[in-house]
Amino acid sequence: MKTLLAIAPSPRRGGNSDLLLQEFCRAAEDSGWKVETIRVNDMKFRPCQACDACAKDGRCIVQDDMQEVYPKIISSDALVLASPITFGSMNAQLKMFIDRFQCWWHAKYNLKKPFIPEDARHPGFFICVGAIKRKEYCESAAGIIRVFFHNINHVLKGSLSFRGYDEKGDVLKDPEVLAETYKAGRDFIASIDKEG
Ligand SMILES: Cc1cc2nc3c(=O)[nH]c(=O)nc-3n(C[C@H](O)[C@H](O)[C@H](O)COP(=O)(O)O)c2cc1C
Repeated sequence: MKTLLAIAPSPRRGGNSDLLLQEFCRAAEDSGWKVETIRVNDMKFRPCQACDACAKDGRCIVQDDMQEVYPKIISSDALVLASPITFGSMNAQLKMFIDRFQCWWHAKYNLKKPFIPEDARHPGFFICVGAIKRKEYCESAAGIIRVFFHNINHVLKGSLSFRGYDEKGDVLKDPEVLAETYKAGRDFIASIDKEG
């Protein structure tokens, strides 16, 4: 059984990004995949300390909950992240999580021993949701995801951005948004299954 790793960084359980992520993941489960969710806000971890100890072997020496994340990314078959927009970007929890992959940057570029081989190109998907109805509000977050995926040898297969949703559960008012997210999940999984 293939595994989709879902990264949920919002502190608001059952909030808009959570609901969209669940819908995306429901499509994966309906397609016979297993889903494992990481709730970033519940993790105990520090931001990258720029100690550069990872330059030696590509491994982070900071012993906290991030240590359980690295092997999960390696062993999963695909990755989906869903973030609320805060101050025009992804939320701080997700950015802090991403920065802890500096060790993978060293593994790939300095040591030439990436944890996921370059040609494996694991598939990934990004969902973001914000209150303000301006297109550029998701662009900063999507740009960071592109850089992140490139560094960890994932391919951004697609993304969804929803604007105009602020209160907890607002996305439930628009069933077509949930349907679009479910369909995106189904298509994402189908494209991976097709490739074998
Ligand atoms: C600290 C903070 C900053 C925010 N900044 C923005 C913003 O810059 N642009 C925007 O569109 N929405 C902004 N929002 C609104 C959230 O993106 C919106 O409420 C979203 O639906 C929250 O998703 P969640 O329910 O998954 O947490 C902000 C919310 C918070 C708490």
